[in-house]
Amino acid sequence: VPNISPQELIAQDLQTVEAYIRSTGEGAGQPLAGMIQSVFQAGGKRIRPTITLLMGHLLHAPMEPLIQLAAAIELTHTATLIHDDLLDNAEMRRGQSALHQRHSHAIAVLTGDYLFAQAAVLEAAHKNPRTMERFSGMLSTIVRGEMEQLVHRGTLPTMAEYEQRIFAKTAAMFETACACSALLADASAETLAAAEQYGRQAGMAFQIVDDVLDFFGETGGSGKPDQRDLFQGVFTLPVLLYQQKNPEDTDLISIRAGQSDEATLRRLSHSIQIGGFLQDALAKAEEYSDSAAQSLADFPINTYRSALEQLTREIVARKV
Ligand code: IPE
Ligand code: IPE
Ligand code: MG
Ligand code: MG
Repeated sequence: VPNISPQELIAQDLQTVEAYIRSTGEGAGQPLAGMIQSVFQAGGKRIRPTITLLMGHLLHAPMEPLIQLAAAIELTHTATLIHDDLLDNAEMRRGQSALHQRHSHAIAVLTGDYLFAQAAVLEAAHKNPRTMERFSGMLSTIVRGEMEQLVHRGTLPTMAEYEQRIFAKTAAMFETACACSALLADASAETLAAAEQYGRQAGMAFQIVDDVLDFFGETGGSGKPDQRDLFQGVFTLPVLLYQQKNPEDTDLISIRAGQSDEATLRRLSHSIQIGGFLQDALAKAEEYSDSAAQSLADFPINTYRSALEQLTREIVARKV
């Protein structure tokens, strides 16, 4: 069928994923059940389960474990968002006020913990030790990435540190989703490596685009305040690219000296925007997304492969 979107291709499976997510909430008892329901009802793009399902179909993974995997990935992602919003002191998430704003911090911590635990339960349901090992390794990686970002707030990372960080906090989950899909399908070592590479590169592109969209914020339709990262001392790719071209910039020198008052950050943000560094960062995201698509070169040509290729283009074109 021509022009069918990646999401439409696996719409049926995504509905089953939603049913697993709902049943996680329903089984939790109050007040967890209500929180979990409100968090998932607010929507979200479901890009991680979409990629998981498409990769699984492409490699002929068995359906029930695949769907449980996709649901486990979305549960994990949502848990990280609940905790991330608490760490970032964010007001809004998925168009509604963040969980820690509506309830207490303690409740946000526990709801996130519960979702992590339920994700592990669901992922373990198919009793595959190789996917369990990958999945639990991923959980550690994400926590390390968030911790690294947290403790280095206010300092400029090197390019290598930035790449490490976005791998850990975001790309590792995309990579693991694809790796586990391949493991469920009992794929060869080469196929597993190609699937992982697709996930990792797509995830890197996804986080870079998120970091660029952060500069546009509310105005760009993300429902988040403008330049939240910058004003919270989280310096991302546009800043690093600006620094490479303008190493002597006085605002950057102040930031490196630990002085980043509001006026300095405002000037820096302006320089980055007018200098075209957001476009440069997007070009870097495009390199990652192109190489994600390239990783599929040896896979069979069919609608699932086309959908995964299409997704890499959507990742860089997205506005929210
Ligand atoms: C937000 O993820 C956090 C990042 C890793 C950038 P998404 O942009 O996928 O959030 P939802 O799931 O659609 O709300
Ligand atoms: C969140 O990254 C990534 C996680 C692993 C939770 P961001 O902090 O950039 O996500 P947003 O911008 O708050 O959605
Ligand atoms: Mg955040
Ligand atoms: Mg962000």
